[in-house]
Amino acid sequence: MTVTIVGSQLGDEGKGALVDLWGGDADIVVRYQGGDNAGHTVVEDGEEYKLSLVPSGAVRDKVGVLGNGCVINPRTLFSELDDLRERGLEPDVRLAKRAHVIMPYHRRLDNIEEEAKADSDLTVGTTGRGIGPTYEDKAGRRGIRVGDLLDPEVLRQRLEYVVPQKRALIEDVYGLEAGEECDIEALVEEFTEFGRRLSEEDMVVNCGDFLAERRDAGENVMFEGAQGTLIDIDHGSYPYVTSSNPTAGGASTGTGLGPTVVGQGEVVGIVKAYLSRVGEGPMPTELKDDDRDEELADFIREKGGEFGTVTGRPRRIGWLDLPMLRHAARVSGFTGIAVNHLDVLAGLDEVKVGHAYELDGEERLTMPATTERWAECEPVLKEFETWPEVDWSEVAEEGYEALPDAAQDYLEYISDELDVPVYAVGIGPDREQTVHLENPFDK
Ligand code: IMP
Repeated sequence: MTVTIVGSQLGDEGKGALVDLWGGDADIVVRYQGGDNAGHTVVEDGEEYKLSLVPSGAVRDKVGVLGNGCVINPRTLFSELDDLRERGLEPDVRLAKRAHVIMPYHRRLDNIEEEAKADSDLTVGTTGRGIGPTYEDKAGRRGIRVGDLLDPEVLRQRLEYVVPQKRALIEDVYGLEAGEECDIEALVEEFTEFGRRLSEEDMVVNCGDFLAERRDAGENVMFEGAQGTLIDIDHGSYPYVTSSNPTAGGASTGTGLGPTVVGQGEVVGIVKAYLSRVGEGPMPTELKDDDRDEELADFIREKGGEFGTVTGRPRRIGWLDLPMLRHAARVSGFTGIAVNHLDVLAGLDEVKVGHAYELDGEERLTMPATTERWAECEPVLKEFETWPEVDWSEVAEEGYEALPDAAQDYLEYISDELDVPVYAVGIGPDREQTVHLENPFDK
């Protein structure tokens, strides 16, 4: 049985909490795309773990796999692993040999390119982790893969080809000085050492084979998507996107298990009850039109802790956007959803959702395919009855019926519009503060 967890919006939907919760029934948790741009916070026994690369399941004694679709910065990986070990955990993390490695020059180039685009509409507001440049090299067939770290000769050969290109880019195109990120000897030394450590700790696998064997042995696999649908390189708001496929198709190409395997399982869209966005790009339901909107946005931002896990940047805030969710549900073929942060909207004096868009004088329920047209969309807002603050821990214990009526109406509206059931409702940051309706592993 497989369960795929996908962000339905712009990332930061609280996927980690659900992965952690349902991951209890998984034997293996696999990330299939992205790298250390993905901040996820897991709270376990009141202890908070902020991870950017290690799959959240690893906090719960699961095997955590970084699939071939991921890009891996070994510096971040080992720093997170060392940190978890210092805190008494023994994370079991495996890396696909086919996954690509984020090299120091990728990170440098990510920042240089963002700087060069600053003050133009082209700024993406990346996390600066080198994600885009690493996927560029993957597509350009000049990347370094995890398997290459195990063979110093191959590693050297690849670096001798690629590093002069990076140096020329930094110096001749951008007119800057190349630094240690272009020192081939130092790179060979540092990354061979990472390779040695990966072998010694038996962390490297042929991902597809590894997962197939475990599945044949009857184990449950959870695919943990990072980021969200609207920053998917194919289905998101290009160019304000990340460079991978957070949508469910990525779970197949990014792990080496076929689409039929992913499709036979459950695909759960994680929805935040409102919208947040880090970085640039349109956001039709953004709360920014007047002082009142800004006050509301500030309130939600503070209450929901809407500051980037990786970068600390304040997130932009908006109402829930249904055309966006309809798009996400179709792209990934959701079989169910989990709605998070419902408690954050409690006690407001208004609650709205963007039910549709108005574009060229016409109402439409779905998103246009280009970002420029999407930016022209005006939201058609639908107002909901508000719900009060309640004792959320009590609600979590008593279950769905204990949610305020207006909050139930809100959830039922989303479920009806997307034509999928709600499996869980997040009403606070702790794993216990969740209302369970269905466990996808029991389906
Ligand atoms: P990159 O992934 O660092 O290249 O950033 C590309 C875009 O994706 C930027 O707008 C980032 O803010 C956004 N992004 C990347 N990772 C995350 C995430 O985990 N949550 C939310 N936004 C993200």
